[in-house]
Amino acid sequence: MKESIAQKAVFANGCGIQPEKDPVLWNDWHVLARSQDLAPGCVLSVRLLDQDLVLWRGQDTQILAWDDRCPHRSVRLSRGTVVENTLVCPYHGLVYDHTGQCIKVPAHPSYVPPKHACVPTYQVCEQYGLVFVCLGHPASEIVPFPEWDDPDYRTFLCGPYPCHTNGLRAIENFLDAAHFPFTHTHILGDPAQPALADYEVTTDKEGVQLHNLRVWQPDPAGTGQAAYVTYDYQVLRPFTAYLRKFMLDGQILTILDCVTPVQETECISWMLFAVNYEIEDDDARAFQETIFLQDVANLESHNPQLLPLDTHSEFHVPCDRGSLAYRKWLKQLGLTYGILL
Ligand code: FES
Ligand code: FE
Repeated sequence: MKESIAQKAVFANGCGIQPEKDPVLWNDWHVLARSQDLAPGCVLSVRLLDQDLVLWRGQDTQILAWDDRCPHRSVRLSRGTVVENTLVCPYHGLVYDHTGQCIKVPAHPSYVPPKHACVPTYQVCEQYGLVFVCLGHPASEIVPFPEWDDPDYRTFLCGPYPCHTNGLRAIENFLDAAHFPFTHTHILGDPAQPALADYEVTTDKEGVQLHNLRVWQPDPAGTGQAAYVTYDYQVLRPFTAYLRKFMLDGQILTILDCVTPVQETECISWMLFAVNYEIEDDDARAFQETIFLQDVANLESHNPQLLPLDTHSEFHVPCDRGSLAYRKWLKQLGLTYGILL
């Protein structure tokens, strides 16, 4: 990321994540768009960790992620226009090249803009058909999703699902099988069979793993056939989790849930699915949309919205062992953003 007068101004305002307090999030990859949303010439306004960003792609450039602020008079560059491989600010027409450097001031044709007349830029990586951005220096690769390139699996994206909730609460919900009978009644759970057997929980340098959660489901795959299913979960990053669901006849469904922390109480879920059985993409998306809409009512009603990490703020039962391990791990990572302090 380039330092510039614009970057100093953003931090001087005191808003947004503080990188020194939350390096784990600052140096992680976060999903901001689908690759298909950014054809050459496109400009998108997005928000990550309270930072307004602009994504754009020139005629011959990769996708670029910048602060959404013209350093001249601070208007949004996402209102600008792509001209060949430059982005032109809508206010006074200043032209920025792909490095974020101002290269032209139309009011002064022979003026050479100073080096500090530049927009802070961020690293971008496209994977799984998604656009990942890192605000700092990436501490690791984008999370693995081995089924994505496995020819035995069909893959598709569900979402984006925006939600007025804390993204950590959204991940915790993703790990929570005890809500199935009551939130996803007659689909992922049966109120007449709500009991959850004990399951294994481990934490290591890769994150948190929940293993062998066995659940009775009236319609586990959206096909109308009831069965016991088994879930394995992995929390790979604070805002990224993965599950594998084992069903009848060797059917396996896997999901990589990438949650974008837009701000502390607002997030977007991008769910990559891979299944080793036949299902129409549109049917699978409709099924997942039903599930998500059922979750939203709970997710948007948390009070407090921020996630408490002390063990006394909320009441816990034995099947919450997974969520407690997740909270403990977040505490070990020293997370403050999105946390009830
Ligand atoms: Fe962007 Fe003046 S504010 S060109
Ligand atoms: Fe749910």
